[in-house]
Amino acid sequence: MSSGTLKIEWAAQYMPVLAAIKKQFVRDKPFAGMTIGMALHVEAKTANLVSTLALGGATVHITGCNPLSTQDDVAEALNEVKNVHCYAKRGCTVDEYYAAIEKVLDAKPVITIDDGMDLIHYIHTRRRDLIKKVIGGCEETTTGIHRLRSMAAEGKLEFPVIAVNDTPMKRFFDNVHGTGESALSSIMITTNTLIAGKYIVVAGYGFCGRGLARKAHGLGAKVIVTEIDPRRALEAHMDGFMVMTMEEAASIGDIFVTTTGNVAVIGPTHFRKLKNGAILSNAGHFNVEIDIQWLHKNAGTVIQREGIETFMLKGKAIHVLAEGRLVNLATPKGMGHPIEVMDLSFALQALCTLHIAKNGKKMKGGVYEVPQDIDEQVANLKLSSLGLSIDTLSREQKKYLCSWDIGT
Ligand SMILES: NC(=O)c1ccc[n+]([C@@H]2O[C@H](COP(=O)([O-])OP(=O)(O)OC[C@H]3O[C@@H](n4cnc5c(N)ncnc54)[C@H](O)[C@@H]3O)[C@@H](O)[C@H]2O)c1
Repeated sequence: MSSGTLKIEWAAQYMPVLAAIKKQFVRDKPFAGMTIGMALHVEAKTANLVSTLALGGATVHITGCNPLSTQDDVAEALNEVKNVHCYAKRGCTVDEYYAAIEKVLDAKPVITIDDGMDLIHYIHTRRRDLIKKVIGGCEETTTGIHRLRSMAAEGKLEFPVIAVNDTPMKRFFDNVHGTGESALSSIMITTNTLIAGKYIVVAGYGFCGRGLARKAHGLGAKVIVTEIDPRRALEAHMDGFMVMTMEEAASIGDIFVTTTGNVAVIGPTHFRKLKNGAILSNAGHFNVEIDIQWLHKNAGTVIQREGIETFMLKGKAIHVLAEGRLVNLATPKGMGHPIEVMDLSFALQALCTLHIAKNGKKMKGGVYEVPQDIDEQVANLKLSSLGLSIDTLSREQKKYLCSWDIGT
């Protein structure tokens, strides 16, 4: 068996929720005759989503959503799966990245699944011939949803897209626990340095930032949070973390992780203040949070190690991981989120794709929430796979929760 197939099978054994959905798809073939176009991180968990859709009758064309996150052996193995075509390649140039997106779109998909919105952006700007054919799409991540909402606000989103990221069963687990654990484990395995006792600076106390801060604290780090939202800053403070500006944190931090979905979070004024040997990394979707271009232009010798670039600035070494791209996926040993959280995220993707296949034609262009019953179905499937039971509302409790006339 190839190494890619072994990885895919390894992941499959910890994906019981997707397996239950796969069974249903194999039986019902809900995507028969449909072509699905995808731009996601091509690794073992994603491959299980792809085969679930293909077994449901779809022809799937997939490429990556980041030049450094593809696992080539998994991409190769995917090309062996019936009705699946994979164009992703690790380390591709930006031109090659978009050429692969073109290939996915040449297959004329009727449903799109994106992580970061590059596919939908390309359709709306460069392949407008396809717009009328697309029933709808699904989006996986916060940054993709930001972009979609901006597009929708300008009236430019011409088909319906489900904001998979924004539902509790995604954000509470994938963003918090997935990013929290996988970003730290990637930093640890890439640098082989200790977390305990270090100052870890987390930029952004959103879903991903909270996970990172908590997990780093659990490993014994002294966690500093930087924010621009006063409520989230206060939340971080009351959760027990130090809160300060990046300018203040720059001279204190040992390891930095940006997770804001914003641009230029660590830039020249901060670089000048960093300690010798500071480690910079990013867990946000795009490689724009750390101003690497400035470092390339202004810093001296660049030393390349596996997954680490070292810049020399006025005698100080500044280490940047994975070229400032998603540290949990883009370092050579980065495995991405733990399998169990992607089981939930991809179960949502599979069921939302089904929702679009059934209802997309009746939905107008715009961003849609994940239907509540899908979110609950995924939670119930996961609970039952864990053998956990929960209470159900009694008739009296249901009535009480809907009433307004029972007070003191
Ligand atoms: N690494 C991964 O695998 C992975 C997984 C999920 C999401 N993401 C990406 O991570 C990013 C964050 O996602 P999220 O769900 O946590 O988003 P979020 O909106 O919940 O949180 C982002 C936080 O960053 C803060 N922020 C914005 N600009 C800032 C600045 N200049 N300095 C400090 N804080 C700032 C915001 O106020 C907010 O609290 C997005 O780009 C998302 O796509 C990555």
